[in-house]
Amino acid sequence: MSPILATIHARRSVSPRRLAGRALSDEELTLLAEAAAAAPDHGRLGPLHLVAVAHGDRAALAEVFAAAALEADPAATDEDLDRSRGCSLAAPTLIAVVANIDDGHPLVPVSEQWISVGAGLQNVLLALAALGCRGKVVSGRRVGSMALRSAFGLGEGAHLVGFITIGTFEGDLKPARRRTADSVLSFWRRPEEC
Ligand SMILES: Cc1cc2nc3c(=O)[nH]c(=O)nc-3n(C[C@H](O)[C@H](O)[C@H](O)COP(=O)(O)O)c2cc1C
Repeated sequence: MSPILATIHARRSVSPRRLAGRALSDEELTLLAEAAAAAPDHGRLGPLHLVAVAHGDRAALAEVFAAAALEADPAATDEDLDRSRGCSLAAPTLIAVVANIDDGHPLVPVSEQWISVGAGLQNVLLALAALGCRGKVVSGRRVGSMALRSAFGLGEGAHLVGFITIGTFEGDLKPARRRTADSVLSFWRRPEEC
């Protein structure tokens, strides 16, 4: 199997709480950004933006996660808030994924801009796998919160897609559950009149 196909098939998400190891270096973060920038992007609008959260800022972000949880559920208990804080602190590296979508673009529909965001995100996940890391994209209700939108300075057209949690994992993984090729692929049949 070619290295690129092997990387695609070996990529697996691992929950942030199971990730260990060191934080990625600035050089490694640059490699991820370059991989994201290699995604197809109609009109070169650059809708995907990555925001790395430095290790020293994770505790501050944890408080924003707690505020977001409280916003979603004003009756959240201290235990709930601590669980939300933990989501910010769990993995060695944390990167926020932001989509800047122009819903008035004359040529490139919103759907194509979102597809470009997804393609860039997948490139990042594959680049991570190539670096020997594991990661998982997580979102949850918190991504739409005012607390997080404000903390990331998001204005109109900007969406917090989620977070890429990154680290290493040495344990055993359950077998991947993937769709079969014939559930993805079919062949066009020419209509009678053609
Ligand atoms: C934008 C986005 C947000 C996601 N948010 C969550 C999430 O909040 N919680 C979760 O368990 N999985 C979430 N997932 C799915 C996981 O990242 C992962 O793809 C899934 O567990 C399947 O594992 P696999 O990547 O190994 O196939 C999200 C995926 C995407 C693309």
